[in-house]
Parts: sequence; C-alpha cells; structure tokens
Amino acid sequence: MKKIILMFLISLVQFLSCQKVDNLIEIKSPSGLIKIMVLKNYDEWTYEVFYLDKKIISNSKLGIAFKDRESPFTNSKVIDIKRKYHDEYWELPWGEVSKIRNNYNEAKITYTNNKNFEVGDLIFRAYDDGIAFRYYVKEGNKYSDSCVVINELTEFNIAEDAEVWWTPAYTSNRYEELYRNTKLSEMDTSHTPLTMRFENGMHVSIHEASLKNYSSMQIYSNGNSQLNCDLAPWSNGDKVRTKSSFYSPWRTVIITSSAKDLITSHLVLNCNEPSKIKDTSWIKPSKYIGIWWGMILGKWTWGESFRHGATNARSFRYIDFAAQNGFDEVLIEGWAAGWKGLFPEDSVTVSFTKSTPDFNLKQVQDYAVAKGVRVQAYHETMANTKNYLSQIDSAFSLMNNYGLRNAKIGQVGPRLDKSEFHYGQYGVEYYRKVLKKALEYKIGVNFHEPIKDTGERRTYPNMLTREGARGMEYNAWQGGNPPSHTTVLPFTRLLNSPMDFTPGIFDLLYENLDLDISKEYPITFTVIDSGNGYSNLRFKSGESIWFEKKMVLDTIISSGRPVYTWKISQNVQVGEWEWGVTADHILNRAYDIWIPKSLENKKNRKIEVMNDGSFFGENSIIIPYHGSDTTHYDYFLKKPKKNDKQRVKTTISKQLALYLVIYSPLQMASDFIDNYIDNPAFQFIKDVPIDWDSTIVLNGEIGQYVTIARKEKNSENWYIGSITNENQRIMEIDFSFLGNGLYEGTIYADAEDSDWKSNPLTFEIYRKKFTNLDMHQIKLSKGGGQAISLKLIE
Ligand code: NOJ
Repeated sequence: MKKIILMFLISLVQFLSCQKVDNLIEIKSPSGLIKIMVLKNYDEWTYEVFYLDKKIISNSKLGIAFKDRESPFTNSKVIDIKRKYHDEYWELPWGEVSKIRNNYNEAKITYTNNKNFEVGDLIFRAYDDGIAFRYYVKEGNKYSDSCVVINELTEFNIAEDAEVWWTPAYTSNRYEELYRNTKLSEMDTSHTPLTMRFENGMHVSIHEASLKNYSSMQIYSNGNSQLNCDLAPWSNGDKVRTKSSFYSPWRTVIITSSAKDLITSHLVLNCNEPSKIKDTSWIKPSKYIGIWWGMILGKWTWGESFRHGATNARSFRYIDFAAQNGFDEVLIEGWAAGWKGLFPEDSVTVSFTKSTPDFNLKQVQDYAVAKGVRVQAYHETMANTKNYLSQIDSAFSLMNNYGLRNAKIGQVGPRLDKSEFHYGQYGVEYYRKVLKKALEYKIGVNFHEPIKDTGERRTYPNMLTREGARGMEYNAWQGGNPPSHTTVLPFTRLLNSPMDFTPGIFDLLYENLDLDISKEYPITFTVIDSGNGYSNLRFKSGESIWFEKKMVLDTIISSGRPVYTWKISQNVQVGEWEWGVTADHILNRAYDIWIPKSLENKKNRKIEVMNDGSFFGENSIIIPYHGSDTTHYDYFLKKPKKNDKQRVKTTISKQLALYLVIYSPLQMASDFIDNYIDNPAFQFIKDVPIDWDSTIVLNGEIGQYVTIARKEKNSENWYIGSITNENQRIMEIDFSFLGNGLYEGTIYADAEDSDWKSNPLTFEIYRKKFTNLDMHQIKLSKGGGQAISLKLIE
C-alpha cells in the first residue's frame, strides 16, 4: 500500500511539474521580430517559432535516441536556465563582406533526467534573421565513455505546406542533383540547405552549422509539412559514434520576409567558432585558369596518353597567359602519375608527389613563380581516402617546398572508400582531418565532391571554396544545367557558402572544339545486342570520358528475335585506351546502363593502337541473349537522358554575371584560353575582383532571377551581376547604394537578339556615367544576364 501511495505522489509531482510555468521558456530575438517557445512536457521536449505573430514552426519534437542508453530527454526536468545577450562584429580575412554582426539572445536550458544526474543542455539562440539550437549531452555517471546515436528526433513542423526547393539525398551523385520544386508534402529525403517559400512571401531555410564529430542532417517529410531530421548512417546503420559527452551541430533556420534577404543572412557562419588562425596573411584568394575544360570535354586526358593535358609545354603556355592577363594561379589537373582506368574511381594507385614523364612540377612552378603566378595543386583522391591520407604529409610538404598555396582536392566516387557516404560521420571526419592538415602546412583548400559547407571557414579560413552542387562541368555532359539552375543556387546551396562553380565559358556551343586528329587511326567499335532490346547506345572512351557519342544502329537481323548491331567509327591515337557503352532499356525503365559492367565479366574494354595503325584488344562487345533473366539489367530506375546537344545553356553576358552571383574566393575562368583571346567580354573577367567589402542583393526570386551588387575590398568600386532563368525580363535598379561621386559604368549586356537557345553568343558592351541618384534599366534575354563594373572617377 505504501508503495502505491508513493507512486501516486511521484506521478502527482510529475503532473504538477509539467504544469509549471518554467517549463515554457521564451526566447526573443534582439529586435523582438522572432520568438522561440520551448516547452517541456512530462515525457518530451518541443519548440515553436514565430515571426512577429505568424507561426513559422509549430510544436516540434526535440531529442536524441541512443543505442544502449536511455534517452536523456524523457522524464527530465529543468534545473537551470542561463540567458545571455550577445552583440559583436567580427572580421573576415576574405569574403563577400569584410565584417559580420553576430547578435542574438541565447537561453541555455540545463536539465536532469528523472534519475537525477545531470544529463545536458538545450541551447537556443534567437537572431533577427532566424534561430539556431543544439544539444549538449553530458556523460551520465552510469555510462561508458562512448555511445551510438541511432536517431535524432528533431522535427521542423512547418506551419504550412510551403513551396520547397530540394535535392534528393542518397544518390550516387552526392550533392550534384538538379533542384526539385514541389510542396513540402511531396518532398523525398533532401539535403540541406533546404529552402522554402510561404504563401505570404516569407522564406525559410533549414541547415546546420559547425558539423563535426557527427553525421550530416538530411530532411524528410511525412507526406505533409512535418519535417524530420535524418542522420546519414555509417555502413552498418549507426548514425553517430561519439564520446558519451558531446555537442550536436547547430540546427539552423533562417527566416526572412523575402527571398533576397536569405542571401545576406550570416546566421550559419555566426554559429561557428571564431577563427583559429591569428595570422591569415598567407591565405590567398585567387583568380585562376586551368588545364581542365579540355579533359572534361574529352580533348585531353587526365591519365598519360598522347592527349595528356598536363604537359610542360601546355603548362608554360597557360602560365604565360595567366601572367599577361592578371590571373594568380593555374590549376593543372592530371599531372600525377598513376591515374589508371576510364573513370576516376577506377584508380587506386594515384600518386600525390610523383608526376607523369611529360610533366615536371618543380620546373613548371618555378616558371610560374618567376612570372608572378602559382600552380594550384590538384589532388584527385578518387574517393580513396586511405590512399590520400597515407600520402598527405608528403603531398603537402612537396607543395610547401615548391611554394604552391592552394589545392583542389577531389573525391570522385559514389562512396568514400567504396563504403561510406561522403556526408556520413566518416566523411565529416575525413574532410576535417584534411582541412586541419592543410592548416598545419598553410595550404588553402578547394574541395570537390565535398561535404556540404556548414560554415567551417569562420574557424578555418584556409577552407576557401568547394563544389557540392552541379557546376559548369555538367554542361559538358548529356542533359546539362537548365538556365534556371543558377537562379536557384544563390537561395539554396550558396547560402553562407562559396562555390567553385567555374564560370566563364565563351565557346558555349563547343564550336571551336577541334580534336587534333594528326597521328590518329580510324577504328570501328561494334556492339551486338543478341535480342535483349537495348536502345540508344552511347560510346565513351578513355579519350573522352564524359563526352558521350551516339552509336549508330547499323543492322537488324531477325532470327526469331531481332539482333541489333550498333557501330561508331572513332579516330584513335597511338596508345592504350579504355572504352565502354551506356544504353537504355526502355521496357525495364532502366536508363544509362553501363553495358560492360552489366555483363559482369568486365568493367571496361581495352585496345592498344600501334604506330602503324594496327591495334590489339577488343573493339566489339557481344551482349548474349538473356531471355527472361532480368538480373543483367540495372534495375536502378533512372530517368531517360534527354539526348540534346551538349552545350552551355546561357548567353555570354550571363557567364560574366555569374562572377557576382556565385561567390568564391577561388574564382576560375574555365574555358580554353584560346577562346578568350580577342573576345572583348574577357575584359570583365580580368577586371572583376574576388574579395569584397560588402554585398547587397538588389532583387531575386528563387528559380527566376537575382541581382547582386558587391563593393570591392579597399575600394569605392562596385560590380553588379544579374541573371535570369528561361524567361526574358526587364528590371529597374536603383543606384542609391553607390557612394558620393561620379562612377563610370561598363555594361556587358545581352544584345537585342540574344537568346540562350537560338542566339547565345551576341552581347553589347557600352559605357555610361552614373551617380547614386540614378536608376538603371537591366534587360535580360531568355537565359541571359548582365554584368556591370562601376568605377569611381571623381
Ligand atoms: C569532378 C570535378 O568536379 C572536376 O572538377 C574534376 O576535374 C573531375 N572530377 C576529375 O577529377
């Protein structure tokens, strides 16, 4: 009986404590615009967010679930609330602005669980442009020193079924997917930043900050506007393996009244720790050109061959061009020995210190330095982190010895070390390790196939830029980026985050792409399908990895079932080459199937061409009849490829405007240098700065258009970039943001007849004087853009 009374009393206390007012904690942003309400019920924690009086996030769960450890959040009670007001300006060594204000109200809520040992804090911050919160879990006295998180319960219960721009997670392309635009309720699991638009024009973007010792957060919807946190798993299903006592990353939600204000929010950077680097003078933002586009388009190769891109002679030519035109660096890809195989991920033998016989890094770098230029190092790890980490010290000390400052570090491959997601905890830790190592050697980093940006550059300003979305290279391949792609990026992937997009292609239709055919021999490649029904065969070879060539259907023999013979004739240079074919199987709704792989006996085919034009190896593939055995098909249901002509889907002026719209401290002019010679539009690429004092977003709607003005660091000069999607438009720009005085404007505009589809190469350049009392009319063609430089003259 005593026991029953005791239990009744305990329940009563618990019931009463859940009624207590201190279980409802309110945190308001400094101006009062944004309010968070945190509520502790008997068995769970929830929160709500308001913008003025409008509810943005309704009652949403908080918490973490562990393997072999009780959830600290159930049956817990608040024992302390520490409030603090923070207001500070901090300086960036480089960036889209030179100073950022970090201004918020914080509540650190300390709680214990029902067994009365301290279990942690919930830390909430209210900013005027959004909110952030994180968990601190303290080591409980009955647990061992490590634990496994199996789920994070965090919800974002969005107050309406808003329109959202999202990219699917867990695809083999990592973050390189086109944005989908749907309602929240129609969304699949998505990467962050996840940006949405409310009916009344308000915008919300969910992301995370300071992602370390944890796995990254994706978001999924429950078929409605209730969004949930999804942590990327390790290959065995664990979500996070951590010490018993740990901080989660910050969960961030930017909230603004318009799309354009999202871009100037620095909330994510503000939630990172201050810089660990006192003297940042060695960190050098750079404008660069590169031996690169030629490999992407299949004119040159990364691996050793007669078409090898990274030769001494070509490097000297690029360095001369860089020196003459004011570029700081030349990126030289494919210089390293050991790149074998048709696809980067085929190779595990690549070296980060030894070069191919036709390239001498020291000689090339010395030549560059003598001309005031540097080589940007290129480390393609092929997603083989073990091979890279085992060589990283020697690779970085080699860079130090020769005086290379920045490294582009690629991780091509669907998984790291063939097993872990790039954005699982394994990846998070790998990228941090490389970044810290780079800091040790004073090297600036440009990650490709990166982990997403969560503001690391505040703490480690040598984290210069990264890829992490579909960049220019996608235009070399089937499908390409639609004109709207770059009008979505500024409001999503680019929030708080530089990107090495590599703009500046002038030969938009690849009309000057002459594949040098001296020393080549024609070889016919054949694929015979013995009646399985493959269609749309596309040839790829070691000479042109990603530039697909359509094979021609040559003969159909009907012998009970139709046997199809597909052919392509190619000029092949003397040397060893690999090749393969992709195809569709429409009946099985399977597209882009790598045929040699689906035959399972071989990944690629090899041929060796001799000096007299004879060749050894296999120039044909016979696909046996599989009958009803469908295991040979790749059942990854992919969408059919469009098969339109490979090209860049913009006008020339839009290429120029991208230097403003897509911020990066390493900014590339990515075309072949020959395409710049004698083109007057190149002057803008030479002039445009890469480091900024301030940034203003003049207008913008997601997926439609955006106009960004940036003021050059330590100067009164301004530069403006404006771009549109498939639609033409006219807009008025108010120049009242200019300083006092007279500015000379040089305007690089779409011509009257420009159109990304039918007439992309025309543009006009004109000069006009402006003061801060003027308006300027911008006219954008379909898929077009405008770039403006404004120099103070008196
Ligand atoms: C993909 C990267 O984005 C590209 O820049 C690089 O050249 C290739 N991988 C080769 O590694």
